[in-house]
Amino acid sequence: MSYCVAIDGPAGAGKSTIAKEIAKKMRLIYVDTGAMYRAMALYLVRQNVPKDDLDKISEVCEEAEIGICYENGEQVVYLNGENVNPFLRTEEVGEMASVMSTLKSVREKLVRLQRRLAETTDVIMDGRDIGTCVLPNADVKIYLTASSYVRAKRRFDELTEKGEPCNFDEIEKAIIERDHRDMTRAESPLRKAEDAVEVDSSYLTITQVVDKIVRICEEKKKGFF
Ligand code: DC
Repeated sequence: MSYCVAIDGPAGAGKSTIAKEIAKKMRLIYVDTGAMYRAMALYLVRQNVPKDDLDKISEVCEEAEIGICYENGEQVVYLNGENVNPFLRTEEVGEMASVMSTLKSVREKLVRLQRRLAETTDVIMDGRDIGTCVLPNADVKIYLTASSYVRAKRRFDELTEKGEPCNFDEIEKAIIERDHRDMTRAESPLRKAEDAVEVDSSYLTITQVVDKIVRICEEKKKGFF
């Protein structure tokens, strides 16, 4: 039996940064499920499929084969055989991923891949539905949150540092809209699993959040939870 830690939460709560650190500390493989949805979304963006045409999205998604492998501990996502890691982190791809991930057919395909990975490997997997749907029997479930203000501020600082012009209010508005879409969709909406531990990262450093979650994992192993 493999060991699985599930981390769910809204966009920008710090899931991937935190999960990567925990993976190193606990010798787990980090599985970024958002990257799989983003790879599928990249295909749609490249095919110029409009964001509001769900029928077309569903049809075109059939053409996209997503694969995943690990090179030097880093997750590499393949789209029809091409390593697409460098193209996944744009706003356009993130927006399309949020829209496209509402589709049942897309989710079924990617969830199958995610479960297959977790069957044979000790993983820390992050996303929106890991604790509620993908790995309902995960050893530890964390629901990582932060206020929309703090998440917008983090994104604003990141873009400003890169020299990209941006507007704080627009960033926060987009975050709130994305939360709404992820939380209200019919298929596997984002929600805290009943047996998940909630961690609010708004006023904690990365190290504090990592230590807190590692402690939760250790306590859980000893049967304290
Ligand atoms: O975590 P992220 O921003 O890379 O995810 C991009 C989008 O993919 C997000 O808006 C919702 C979707 N997603 C999902 O529906 N289920 C997951 N397990 C992971 C991501």
